[in-house]
Amino acid sequence: MKLASRLDLIEPSPTLAISARAAELKAQGKDIVGFGAGEPDFDTPAHIKAAAIEALNQGFTKYTAVSGIPELKKAIIDKFKRDNQLDFQPNQIIISTGGKQVLYNFFLSVLDNGDEVVCPAPYWVSYKDIVLLAGGTMKLMQTSFDAGFKITLADIEKHVSNKTRVFILNSPSNPTGATYTPDEIRALAAALEKFPDLLIVTDDIYEKLTYGVEFLNIATASEKLRPRTVVINGLSKAYSMTGWRLGYAGGPKEIIAAMDMIQGQSTSNATSFSQRGAVAALNAEQQCVEDMRVVFEKRRDLAFSLLSGLKGLRVFKPAGAFYLFPDIAGLKATPGWAALAARTGETDTGKIFSKGLLDEKLVAVVPGSAFGYEDGFRISYATSEAQIEKGLNRIREFVEALG
Ligand SMILES: Cc1ncc(COP(=O)(O)O)c(C=O)c1O
Repeated sequence: MKLASRLDLIEPSPTLAISARAAELKAQGKDIVGFGAGEPDFDTPAHIKAAAIEALNQGFTKYTAVSGIPELKKAIIDKFKRDNQLDFQPNQIIISTGGKQVLYNFFLSVLDNGDEVVCPAPYWVSYKDIVLLAGGTMKLMQTSFDAGFKITLADIEKHVSNKTRVFILNSPSNPTGATYTPDEIRALAAALEKFPDLLIVTDDIYEKLTYGVEFLNIATASEKLRPRTVVINGLSKAYSMTGWRLGYAGGPKEIIAAMDMIQGQSTSNATSFSQRGAVAALNAEQQCVEDMRVVFEKRRDLAFSLLSGLKGLRVFKPAGAFYLFPDIAGLKATPGWAALAARTGETDTGKIFSKGLLDEKLVAVVPGSAFGYEDGFRISYATSEAQIEKGLNRIREFVEALG
């Protein structure tokens, strides 16, 4: 069957292979510990569900305006004002079916064929494929474990030029949890201000999950960047609403209008009653968000302490999101590595480790190559303490057996 050549640009989600294998083993009755999924394990808070149920009961089940219902736009404008000191008008806001669709809308709206997008690596899996599908080219700024997986001003100097169309910022980061401090954001902003035609997209989906580092949005930090920054956020992570598919953006009205047009020809509006749930989420008291954050912080500490001190593995304590991203370059020198590589039939470090770990210890993690960093793997600690202990003790045994 002949399919579109644009499919040659992208790869099947690398996380799917691991998830499919984990599901297969689970179906065989195996006791799998899953650290793959990037979603909170909590239920959505009751007041949010109640608002959506009420919307359903009231018959709020029809199409809405493409860019979202006025009450939700207002709640988002209030949120931007309250949390980020950013002022938006309703025509600067779009609500979409998840942060992912917001990103699709954005890149389809601003990229012409061959336009260059600069992004730090490791990066969230979908950025690259969305950019490529939109006709762009991806220029990666490889960060290192030693730099805390953060870019430096030298990286900007080296990679960003007047040819660059978009700069992607994601702090706290998926997959590393790296979180820029306010001073670091201000320094990045000052460096990016020098490129007058550059657009900034800041993906703030983990804004609410920080541990000891204050979140600062780059558009808040820089008045000069504000008119050319699109701020993307969503309800999935902060309110445990992944299945509701609710994301949003605030930005220049011309870009938002273009995104609205693209969305109008794809999904139309985000689900009507999800939008009502989101109004409740954003307008109500935010204690539920803080309660979940506190639990994540405890889990981060537990996961970090269980993974620390293993030979061949370097892990740092991230200040945000719910991931650990150990560097495992050192494992390649262990006596058992060659045999493990042979058993798995894989060639890249993260895949050898992840496949071996799943087959031999029944623990699912995501190989680093999915995020543009071969010598690593990602653990999502958005699961119970009991699962974290069980899974990480198995990882410890697995690593120790390599010698
Ligand atoms: C960095 C990042 N951005 C955006 C998203 C998209 O989330 P959603 O489409 O559920 O809003 C995710 C989800 O994993 C993410 O990790």
